[in-house]
Amino acid sequence: MKNEYLPRRAVIETIVDDTPDTKTFTLRLIDKGNIRYKPGQFLMLSLAGFGEAPFTFASCPNSNNRFQVSIRRVGTLTNALHKLREKDIVGVRASYGNTFPLDKIKNKDILFVAGGCGIAPLRSLIQYVFKNRKDYGRIEIIYGCRSPKDIFYKDEIKSWQNKTNSNVHLTVDEPDASWAGTCGVVCVLLPKIKLNPKTAMVFLCGPSIMIKFAIKDILKLGFKERNIYASLERYMKCGIGKCGHCYIKGKYICLDGPNFSYVQMRKLGIEA
Ligand SMILES: Cc1cc2nc3c(=O)[nH]c(=O)nc-3n(C[C@H](O)[C@H](O)[C@H](O)COP(=O)(O)OP(=O)(O)OC[C@H]3O[C@@H](n4cnc5c(N)ncnc54)[C@H](O)[C@@H]3O)c2cc1C
Ligand code: FES
Repeated sequence: MKNEYLPRRAVIETIVDDTPDTKTFTLRLIDKGNIRYKPGQFLMLSLAGFGEAPFTFASCPNSNNRFQVSIRRVGTLTNALHKLREKDIVGVRASYGNTFPLDKIKNKDILFVAGGCGIAPLRSLIQYVFKNRKDYGRIEIIYGCRSPKDIFYKDEIKSWQNKTNSNVHLTVDEPDASWAGTCGVVCVLLPKIKLNPKTAMVFLCGPSIMIKFAIKDILKLGFKERNIYASLERYMKCGIGKCGHCYIKGKYICLDGPNFSYVQMRKLGIEA
């Protein structure tokens, strides 16, 4: 019988220092089989002796068994992962969780709202949308970070700014001498977006306090509850609906989520 807890091996091909506490790893599966996933899903990444934890696929799906994860250094496992080098091997179980509602977003305008490392799961969908550009309407991206040095994917964000019918708005809480842009929380940027709120889709990921206040303001602008989706982060152990660590109000975040519409979030007791 197949052991669902058994990781497959992946090799680290490249490591990029994104911010002082975050690195983006490009991994390639070397064991038998393929890694198939869609934007919004996550994987369980492990390192022998240090443990296992969930991380979001941060890159658009492809067919060459390569994928990226952006990892913030916060504790035992993530510290150990940050010490790894190219060609080192990690364990991967994948793919888990639900995807962003790809069937609902075709031909729609889309607003992305990210805070800090919340840009990682949204990046998978943003890359997917730009790869299939003609299938989508106007794209607006709002991204807020603590300070300019905490902004992820700086070069890629510049390239998003140059795409047709798209715009990227950045803000930081604590500007430094290099910063000439907007200061403050992501909500200060919402009045700048040019989308039809009645039909546009919204995707949010970031700290729960950011999600709460951003949804409140997004609703005030006339966006529909059913078109607003957020990625929720909860403590997870198994990632496959067995251990109960991520259970809230009849839902397993690892199986039924991590992506929920605001209508579903309210049923889980998460209100803006
Ligand atoms: C679905 C999902 C997707 C995720 N995607 C990413 C990602 O793409 N990149 C990334 O850097 N992190 C992501 N995380 C968070 C990541 O799993 C944790 O940072 C990781 O478990 C920390 O492991 P550690 O051993 O280094 O930290 P530990 O030593 O276990 O803990 C260090 C600190 O981090 C806190 N912590 C641990 N896990 C979580 C959690 N799930 N939520 C909030 N706080 C936590 C602990 O309370 C403690 O304060 C995701 C979590 C989930 C549930
Ligand atoms: S993480 Fe074990 S049930 Fe969700």
